[in-house]
Amino acid sequence: MNYILLTGGAGYIGSHTALALLRAGYQVISFDNYSNSSATALKRVEKLAGGNIICLSGDIRDEAALSAVFRQYPVAAVIHFAGLKAVGESTEQPLHYYDNNVGGTITLCRVMREFNVKKLVFSSSATVYGDAKTVPIDETAPRSATNPYGQSKLMIEHILADLVNAEPDWGITLLRYFNPVGADSSGQIGEDPNGIPNNLMPFISQVAVGKRDKLNIFGNDYPTADGTGVRDYIHVVDLAAGHLKALQYLENHQGIEAINLGTGTGYSVLEMVNAFVRVNQVEVPYQIAPRRPGDIASCFARPDKALKLLGWQAEKTLADMVRDSWHWQRQNPNGYAENK
Ligand code: NAD
Ligand code: UFG
Repeated sequence: MNYILLTGGAGYIGSHTALALLRAGYQVISFDNYSNSSATALKRVEKLAGGNIICLSGDIRDEAALSAVFRQYPVAAVIHFAGLKAVGESTEQPLHYYDNNVGGTITLCRVMREFNVKKLVFSSSATVYGDAKTVPIDETAPRSATNPYGQSKLMIEHILADLVNAEPDWGITLLRYFNPVGADSSGQIGEDPNGIPNNLMPFISQVAVGKRDKLNIFGNDYPTADGTGVRDYIHVVDLAAGHLKALQYLENHQGIEAINLGTGTGYSVLEMVNAFVRVNQVEVPYQIAPRRPGDIASCFARPDKALKLLGWQAEKTLADMVRDSWHWQRQNPNGYAENK
């Protein structure tokens, strides 16, 4: 298993995984339409690793372009990151989300089958658990979705399960990420959201760097210890390592497995803000705002299955997460763009 195709390889999680793969000696092919990323990320990865990535620009819905990749390179497995991920936008543009995420995945699988490449790691999400009744959440928890983005992940999980059912020689891992944060410790690559960040950590970082006045904390009346929402934040470098373990697992396993990638520990919004301030010695002004529609009180993983099946567990601490997020933000106040 040497050539690994990363769809969406230039994105936040893809670029960190590309770095880990290069360092582990894999040949990395990135296939990305750059709809939410910059080729600069991959250039920086190459520099950090001292190796080359085969960087291809293309859309996973373009069957001919994808086929050309498989024709040219001996792809052993695919890690499928490509997808649109903004919850609010998905509600406004459902057809676009279903076409890109679901349609794109079907096209990808069709091409993989044509070239007899049947090992796939898919970027799923804790969003498939909807508003879980109990925490920690294990992989057998009921699944549901409350928006088109979540629905697209759920649909893809079902489609891939049906595929394995029909063709048992596929090996597919559904990695259900919890809340990815942080950046490579070099500060060279990181999360670069377009416009106003939806997610907590990039918002905190942009307040700290002076791009935004203050953080709105969405609700302090949840049934949690301090009233603010609790999530399982996971360092993106740990997440990247989980993908390497998933690839190794697929070398000698067929069938489909869903696996949580989380730390198993939940932190509240206030705990995140306080850790960021304490570790980085910066100010993060905030105010309490109304709850954000669709948010849940508490969401964190039971990560036991990842340890048992993949031999993987998160190693980075909360201090690592907030320090590395800040390091990236401070060095790249405008992300990858020159003047954003
Ligand atoms: P990202 O937006 O940084 O990366 C996704 C990449 O896919 C981008 O580079 C984008 O340009 C590319 N892309 C999108 N549609 C494409 C298409 N049709 N053809 C080719 N490339 C396309 O997002 P990320 O945070 O790195 O997330 C990666 C995956 O993980 C996504 O599928 C996302 O839904 C999933 N996920 C992310 C999170 C999170 O909070 N970051 C949580 C759970 C799951
Ligand atoms: N929050 C704030 N203020 C902000 C942003 C977030 O208080 O400006 C709070 C939220 O209310 C929540 C917590 O911070 O309690 C985390 O919010 P995020 O938006 O960072 O993350 P979510 O858990 O809401 O959503 C993320 C991804 C979704 C994915 C979900 C489950 O953004 O795409 O995790 O995996 F579906």
